[in-house]
Amino acid sequence: MTRATIEVIEADITTLNVDAIVNAANETLLGGGGVDGAIHRAAGPDLLAACRALPEVRPNVRCPTGQARITPGFRLPAKYVIHTVGPVWEGGDEGEAELLANCYRESLRLAWEHDVRSIVFPAISCGVYGHPLTAAVALAVREVRGFLRRETTPGHVVFCCFGATVTAAYRRLLQN
Ligand code: APR
Repeated sequence: MTRATIEVIEADITTLNVDAIVNAANETLLGGGGVDGAIHRAAGPDLLAACRALPEVRPNVRCPTGQARITPGFRLPAKYVIHTVGPVWEGGDEGEAELLANCYRESLRLAWEHDVRSIVFPAISCGVYGHPLTAAVALAVREVRGFLRRETTPGHVVFCCFGATVTAAYRRLLQN
């Protein structure tokens, strides 16, 4: 079994020509700021239409926190967008770590189901949602490594960082 590869890059995720990029969305899946806003701007209006067409599991909720949904990438170079909703940091006693771990697991499960070979994650919940960076990065690396011990698809996982601080946090961990 050829081992999958994990890479850290510093880039704008919307520019990457890969099978799937992961969007750090909110439960409405109707766009927002941060990476969500960048992905919708780059993908064009068809992405919003595709998200709006996804069924609501309850009023205004198409993707509950910790779950993931997949759509085409439309104008993006990426074939798919996997939308996942990270937890809002509320101090650490509200199950945030488990919910964030589920974001990685569910995104990887969707990637596996769609035979995605290369998947790129932003630092989910580390922006507006305020998750402490070091803990979120350690959790992301742990979840990806755990998944890749069991599966060979996706064969390439990229942590796409926006800024030197996040890049350094991932690089510090992955060099070990
Ligand atoms: N490419 C890669 N990473 C990016 C980009 C980009 N173009 N833009 C922002 N980021 C990084 C941020 O710097 C941060 O490290 O993505 C990480 C996640 O930050 P947010 O986008 O703020 O996502 P999150 O913290 O999960 O908050 C989600 O913000 O945009 C809204 O609709 C979204 O309500 C949801 C909330």
